[in-house]
Amino acid sequence: MSSQDIPEENLPQEQGAAHGAAGHGSTAVAQRADDNPFADPGLPAHKPRIQDIDERAAKRSERAVALMFTLSMLATVGFIACFVIFPVDKLVYIWPFGRVSALNFSLGLTLGAALFFIGAGAVHWARTLMSDQEIAAERHPIEAAPEVKAQVMADWAAGNEESGFGRRKLVRNTMFGAMALVPLAGVVLLRDLGPLPEKKLRTTLWAKGKQLINMNTMEPLRPEDITVGSLVFAMPEGLGYDDHEFQKEIAKAALMIVRIRPDDIKDKRELEWSHEGIVAFSKICTHVGCPISLYEQQTHHVLCPCHQSTFDLADGARVIFGPAGHALPQLRIGVNTEGNLEALGDFAEPVGPSFWERG
Ligand code: FES
Repeated sequence: MSSQDIPEENLPQEQGAAHGAAGHGSTAVAQRADDNPFADPGLPAHKPRIQDIDERAAKRSERAVALMFTLSMLATVGFIACFVIFPVDKLVYIWPFGRVSALNFSLGLTLGAALFFIGAGAVHWARTLMSDQEIAAERHPIEAAPEVKAQVMADWAAGNEESGFGRRKLVRNTMFGAMALVPLAGVVLLRDLGPLPEKKLRTTLWAKGKQLINMNTMEPLRPEDITVGSLVFAMPEGLGYDDHEFQKEIAKAALMIVRIRPDDIKDKRELEWSHEGIVAFSKICTHVGCPISLYEQQTHHVLCPCHQSTFDLADGARVIFGPAGHALPQLRIGVNTEGNLEALGDFAEPVGPSFWERG
């Protein structure tokens, strides 16, 4: 479509004016522009900021920006200091997060502050001190002119000829080989992701005679502590929150304990592995390993918050909904001579995600 075909009121002002001047006269065009409710109003008039007209305000903004960049520098120095000062296994209590690694917390805090203050300083600088004049840039065709395209193709052909890329096949082919092999170096580095887990993920700290410890009170659990409808989390005796390996071990050994009326338990093995209806299941979802904590006491269903896998604790913790591929492993429990709940062995199968070979 040529500009001849476009209604004049839709043409850019200059073009429309020129067109109008040639055909009908500028007075008529101005008249139509006044009547056109969709005419481009152009950019609003620039309003100077306080910093544009008051040098003292500009200086204040400058100092604020400098302060933020200085805080960023201090935070970076703090980051390095924390890296040196805190041992990797030091835990601290920080409200409201609870017990966290001092090193991770301090590194995250200082690095976050360093980046935040760089960003805040840059934004403040741009908003208060840099020019805020709006400028409209006209669009131009981006396609190269035919003669430029022809020149590029000629240069390409000349470069190909001069490099001998097409003629010297030995050089070309060995270069392809070298480039194909280089990524293998990165694949080899994957070996550094750590030693293979071997059997470590197939066993947990649970063993015959290990008492079940309430994770909230850190006291041994007794059958009378667990009422129908309640949900209690337990970990093995001997494991403490301060232990170096705590996170690794609890990620495999965490238990959910509920009491179900024995008549309501549908799975025969589950009933045999329970104590007076008290059943202990792994708290680690068999989909991708989220900790499960939502218990519906009327139905005895537990729901994983990550992808909504739902397990029926009254029926061997089988999956009744969601992407998990296996029932939650059950821990066989009993009561020791002191009247405390204890494990009667380790889990019979690996806990956690379903990709483990089970057999
Ligand atoms: S991790 Fe539990 S449903 Fe995905």
